[in-house]
Amino acid sequence: MYSEKVMDHFMNPRNVGEIENASGVGTVGNAKCGDIMQMSLLIEDDIIKDVKFKTFGCGAAIATSSMATELIMGKTVDEALQLTNRAVADALDGLPAQKMHCSLLAEEAIKSALADYYQKTGKQLPEGFVIPHSEDHMEE
Ligand code: FES
Repeated sequence: MYSEKVMDHFMNPRNVGEIENASGVGTVGNAKCGDIMQMSLLIEDDIIKDVKFKTFGCGAAIATSSMATELIMGKTVDEALQLTNRAVADALDGLPAQKMHCSLLAEEAIKSALADYYQKTGKQLPEGFVIPHSEDHMEE
């Protein structure tokens, strides 16, 4: 049911925890299952120097968040804003369809943390960017 990469990131999740004095923090909930995800980012010169996550989520949420942190590490904030849950799932060699909603937690928590950073620094969010809220998770 799960790929080897999913199992690896579930068993050995990368970048678990919370960054003190983070440049941006985002917490979102998944309306489908009630699970919660928090991402904290350390950003210098618009580059993501560190990222950590904490979750009350299932194994798929843990694996996708772990992979998502690896995908945005060292990227610019603008690049990180482009990350989609589909790209995270692809990097894990796929997820079962009924677990795709879990991967949304990682994407939305990163976007929420980035929005926090943009707001704190007075940077303009890209046009059309919608700050995620937990209510947005009704659909997959
Ligand atoms: Fe809640 Fe997967 S079942 S995040």
